[in-house]
Amino acid sequence: MSGFVEKPEPLQVPGLVHLHTGKVRELYQNEAGDLVMVASDRTSAYDWVLPTEIPDKGRILTQLSLWWFDRLADLVPNHVLSTEPPAGAPADWAGRTLICKSLRMVPVECVARGYLTGSGLVEYRESRTVCGLALPEGLVDGSELPAPIFTPATKAAVGEHDENVSYEEVARQVGADTAAQLRQATLAVYGRARDIARERGVILADTKFEFGFEDETLVIADEVLTPDSSRFWPADQWQPGRAQPSFDKQFVRDWLTSAESGWDRHSEQPPPPLPQHIVDATRAKYVEAYERLTGAAWE
Ligand SMILES: Nc1ncnc2c1ncn2[C@@H]1O[C@H](COP(=O)(O)OP(=O)(O)OP(=O)(O)O)[C@@H](O)[C@H]1O
Ligand SMILES: [Mg+2]
Repeated sequence: MSGFVEKPEPLQVPGLVHLHTGKVRELYQNEAGDLVMVASDRTSAYDWVLPTEIPDKGRILTQLSLWWFDRLADLVPNHVLSTEPPAGAPADWAGRTLICKSLRMVPVECVARGYLTGSGLVEYRESRTVCGLALPEGLVDGSELPAPIFTPATKAAVGEHDENVSYEEVARQVGADTAAQLRQATLAVYGRARDIARERGVILADTKFEFGFEDETLVIADEVLTPDSSRFWPADQWQPGRAQPSFDKQFVRDWLTSAESGWDRHSEQPPPPLPQHIVDATRAKYVEAYERLTGAAWE
């Protein structure tokens, strides 16, 4: 079982048509035909959207994405048109709303990995490969790869795992030209972001991008380089051979799988609400990621 513990009722705003409730974002279309992306404070873990929100998470993710988009603009155009919430939207949409170009999305999760962990590590242990790419012997959890790799996945429905696929499979699905563009853009953006993060004492272990087309132009969309879409590790604590501490919802995952939560992730039961100390610690991690990366104080 998985999905939403409590499916939220999307807010209706005059002039906007509600299109979709994502795990984290509400999507609307405005009268100009542009996409209105509103990031909520929702959080997900183990394929569940949890019943407890993390205050400010939507604004932190939105502001961090915007900060990165600025630093990537010479590499690839992005989908942002405006940060101004539409007239008639509630005041609390400020800071977490993006008006974006409505793109023809490419149905591929474009993952770049500079370090081995997560689903990459699982595949590596079975076959010495990640997404079919051969890797050297002797790598462990958290090892730096000889060079960053493009490890695409197909986008799954809510509650299902994205599935890692080979580059050849992506080329079959979207065409060789598009696949080549996705790989090139993914690795270029990863390389830039990794270097920026590294200067700030943060390892960008891996990250996921989504791209779309505006006519024939590849445009980077969705959110970029946030703790929800990336693994960020404090560089001074990096120690291959174990799970790395990270700037994301690690507290949430650890608590959910602890005896204290009373929840069995392999059961059919939805996860319980998070206690206040886990909410606070998780919010603090998102704030810390924002502050470390941007060098600016959160508020
Ligand atoms: N410029 C764009 N044009 C069209 N769709 C976009 C654009 N940018 C992002 N999206 C889509 O908006 C949604 C963002 O919502 P969110 O991140 O909450 O979804 P998700 O949980 O990642 O995926 P799902 O929509 O499957 O639940 C994604 O489906 C993403 O593909
Ligand atoms: Mg998403």
